[in-house]
Amino acid sequence: MAVAELTAPSICPKSNLRSSQLSYLSARFNSRRHQSFHLLRRVRSARISCSVNSQSPPVAVKTQDPKSKSSDCYGVFCLTYDLKAEDETKSWKKLINIAVSGAAGMISNHLLFKLASGQVFGPDQPIALKLLGSEKSFQALEGVAMELEDSLFPLLREVKIGIDPYEVFQDAEWALLIGAKPRGPGMERADLLDINGQIFAEQGKALNEVASRNVKVIVVGNPCNTNALICLKNAPNIPAKNFHALTRLDENRAKCQLALKAGVFYDKVSNVTIWGNHSTTQVPDFLNARINGVPVKQVITDHKWLEEEFTEKVQKRGGALIQKWGRSSAASTAVSIVDAIKSLVTPTPEGDWFSSGVYTNGNPYGIVEGIVFSMPCRSKGDGDYEFVKDVTFDNYLLKKITKTEAELLAEKRCVAHLTGEGIGFCDLPEDTMLPGEM
Ligand code: LMR
Repeated sequence: MAVAELTAPSICPKSNLRSSQLSYLSARFNSRRHQSFHLLRRVRSARISCSVNSQSPPVAVKTQDPKSKSSDCYGVFCLTYDLKAEDETKSWKKLINIAVSGAAGMISNHLLFKLASGQVFGPDQPIALKLLGSEKSFQALEGVAMELEDSLFPLLREVKIGIDPYEVFQDAEWALLIGAKPRGPGMERADLLDINGQIFAEQGKALNEVASRNVKVIVVGNPCNTNALICLKNAPNIPAKNFHALTRLDENRAKCQLALKAGVFYDKVSNVTIWGNHSTTQVPDFLNARINGVPVKQVITDHKWLEEEFTEKVQKRGGALIQKWGRSSAASTAVSIVDAIKSLVTPTPEGDWFSSGVYTNGNPYGIVEGIVFSMPCRSKGDGDYEFVKDVTFDNYLLKKITKTEAELLAEKRCVAHLTGEGIGFCDLPEDTMLPGEM
């Protein structure tokens, strides 16, 4: 085992703290932080911890057994929770590990507090949050962890922060992969696919090595469909079915626009599918959607509006928001991640469905296999899903689906070097963009 030693007395308080709190203590000692995280990055299994107990004052900082639970904590979360004792209680479920990448970003800032409050997994579900950031964002990540501490969430039992996915994803049962590079000025879409693809290839490998064998992965970072594909291809020991690309935000946007046009509140809109890519080729399906249980085309008789204005509005909503905010959507994205998780952990209402970007193998719609494509799904509430059988197609819908499918196939060719399928060759259609690009 790799050993790193730092002189401890100046950084380890004399208290009843449990051992190994360097991640917490280092928040106050920046120079030492840099030293410690360089070590973590170089030697994957190295843990640096602060050995403290009330009888014998601390004298040294050293690495610990990677399996030692005591190094997996931030601040107050090192002090309060005896995992085993809680596990034995009858009223609370067994603690679940939720890993979040891009944890210092805006989307996470909305999401983490919803997760910790219990509104996602329920009031009897204690959680551990494992937060992945980058070296650059590490200080902000500490700020996030401090705010989580200060929120006194009873269900939040563990928080860990880090910059190494192999550490942070350990035993993850959910992995919410939000962190990705946004497209910068002058950057080709192919460049973005490559840069972010490498991040997701690495994270896929890390999940494959250390996460729960049944981890559910929701990829949010764009281009999310192809990032999800890269991730699952790099995680052959995890079922491909467990990987999702987030298109729930697009479904929610479509529901809102249909409700507005029909003059009803959005809870009356159901059976909305987003087909395909989370890009401007995505297809919001109004053929199968319903308002008050009635097919949308019977309620909204302006079919030209449905085919043109509605479709384009949903496809470009992300871009419209960027123009207003000067950055991409964050709060509504976090809400849609919550919706996506809840759709998997609660039974889908009878007759309805939800959209998710999932692996196409075995789909009943004739979508080409081997890509991640948004399709209508139902769940029994066990974290798994099945494809909806009773959907219909017309020529308009099929034509649109073919276009978004072609785009995803082009993206797939472009990242072949990251999926283990040969040499990447980018012939991306020029007229399609991420929702945020206008
Ligand atoms: C959104 O749909 O709002 C985002 O995916 C846009 C973006 O490119 O960040």
